[in-house]
Amino acid sequence: MSSLDTLKDLFTHLIEPWLFMSISARHIPTTIATLVSNRQWTTLFSPWGFNEALFGHFWATVGPQVKSTAERRVIPLLEGRVRDGVVQDQVVGPPVSGRVIEIGAGSGMWADVFSKIGGGSEGEAQAGGVRRRGVKPGSGLTKIYGVEPNPQSAEALRRRVEEVGLDGIYEVIPLGIESLSDPEAWSGTTIEPGSIDCIVSILCLCSIPNIDENAKALYKLLKPGGRWYVYEHVKTERGGILVSLYQRILNVAWSFFLGSCRLCKSTGISLRNAGAWSEVSIAQPPDEPPYQMLPHILGTLTK
Ligand SMILES: C[S@@+](CC[C@H](N)C(=O)[O-])C[C@H]1O[C@@H](n2cnc3c(N)ncnc32)[C@H](O)[C@@H]1O
Repeated sequence: MSSLDTLKDLFTHLIEPWLFMSISARHIPTTIATLVSNRQWTTLFSPWGFNEALFGHFWATVGPQVKSTAERRVIPLLEGRVRDGVVQDQVVGPPVSGRVIEIGAGSGMWADVFSKIGGGSEGEAQAGGVRRRGVKPGSGLTKIYGVEPNPQSAEALRRRVEEVGLDGIYEVIPLGIESLSDPEAWSGTTIEPGSIDCIVSILCLCSIPNIDENAKALYKLLKPGGRWYVYEHVKTERGGILVSLYQRILNVAWSFFLGSCRLCKSTGISLRNAGAWSEVSIAQPPDEPPYQMLPHILGTLTK
């Protein structure tokens, strides 16, 4: 890259978070109008509730664009083609399969990918002799729990699950991950410790509270040998003091416009410390420049 190209790239990365925030700001009038027309006064007048509602509108616009740039990493990740943050041509590990929790599933942006991913035997895609719509023959996916607390997104997720034919296999749990094991918060499906084959988190651990504690709770739900598939934006590690300072300053404005999402989380450390892993293969993709304001971690952890 010439120095001029590097400068342009640097500038693009420095302003990218501001572009996201300005898109969110443009959704404020629609969010207010929707809450008023639905008479959701408590949400309208609660800073937290309003912020979450705004995020739901923002993500409905931005999510598809984010998905189209993230697909080149997320699809290989779920297919078992990522090692140490690098996408591989060949399968290097097991694809997502079995009983799965998708954390912060949003409006179901990745539901179509789940419906296309294969893995197990032909027989597993048949339930009681009836083929489950949307599950590819040969798929090893037996159950997916989509955990999503934003009511607007949870509703969109339900519609999306039907659209891609995953109804019957994909169950929406309209809760924050922190309430999953709280019988007071949820009287629905109980997920037993050691009963889950895979956890999938795509761009959502930036939004969950008490990440250390919640990562530990989720670790307990995994079976021995279970895998956690991760694609998350995180605190900058490679950028040096100036990039780190700029990211912290951005984070203040970010928290007003992007719901509970935060820029400076050390998610990789929280995941590594969640429990004893037999293998950890997560890293920042090497093609991301050190001045990237939304740097990522990509890969899997195996219990
Ligand atoms: C940036 S969106 C990503 C959604 C989806 N994973 C995708 O890639 O389109 C982050 C999601 O995390 C959800 N979220 C926020 N707090 C959460 C919590 N405590 N537990 C689970 N999900 C949460 C938000 O509602 C939002 O849908």
